[in-house]
Amino acid sequence: MRLDKFLCDCNLGTRSQIKKDIRNGQVSINGSVVLKPEQKVDEQEDQIYYKGQLCVYEKYVYYLMHKPAGVVSATEDKYDRTVLDLMGDDRREDLFPVGRLDKDTEGLLLITNDGVLAHDLLSPVKHVEKEYECHLAYALDKEQKNRLEQGVDIGEKALTRPALVQIIEDNKITLTITEGKFHQVKRMLYAVGNEVIYLKRLRMGGLRLEPELPKGSYRRLTEEERIQITEDLNDRSGYF
Ligand code: URA
Repeated sequence: MRLDKFLCDCNLGTRSQIKKDIRNGQVSINGSVVLKPEQKVDEQEDQIYYKGQLCVYEKYVYYLMHKPAGVVSATEDKYDRTVLDLMGDDRREDLFPVGRLDKDTEGLLLITNDGVLAHDLLSPVKHVEKEYECHLAYALDKEQKNRLEQGVDIGEKALTRPALVQIIEDNKITLTITEGKFHQVKRMLYAVGNEVIYLKRLRMGGLRLEPELPKGSYRRLTEEERIQITEDLNDRSGYF
């Protein structure tokens, strides 16, 4: 990879600033100052110093964001702010959100540059659980609950897979699903004669949104969480 991209991925500044710093002799590779931004580096083997500090390259990065309403789950958008716009200095060119939450949905969103993990988490055959808090226009009755739990017709080829419903208050439930169809939760509630007026994702597999993480902020996954999501993909015993 090019030296300037390497330094950018290490989050050391904008590409143009980094190019300037390289040309000004602020970067060394294996003990020799390098003046060319396009110089090729081996990110695993080379010892690269930027302004006297050793740079450690992380190939894959994983963030858990508390998505606020009003931003879109995309890498760029003509009209709206995106979740990546919230990432400030941690933004890397190769980051993307894993799946989509609607613009008005809040809650847990995984952001990474690990395409294989993202693909697996979204794969319809992996059935990773997604748990949502839903505030409803009307109290959920027994029949609606049963239908959600058994599978409903939302206009797709097949009924939705069985879901798990927990009633918190009359108009407030958690719904756990193992698919990720477009607007799925809203369409499921609509199909049983109800309506979602507020939606928040609380959990994806073993990753849970902690109440302390403020809306619009994000943090790195812990090592345990990274191991946990890989295990979620292999262990399907918990799925209903
Ligand atoms: N289901 C929805 O309807 N919207 C979301 O944002 C996520 C799941």
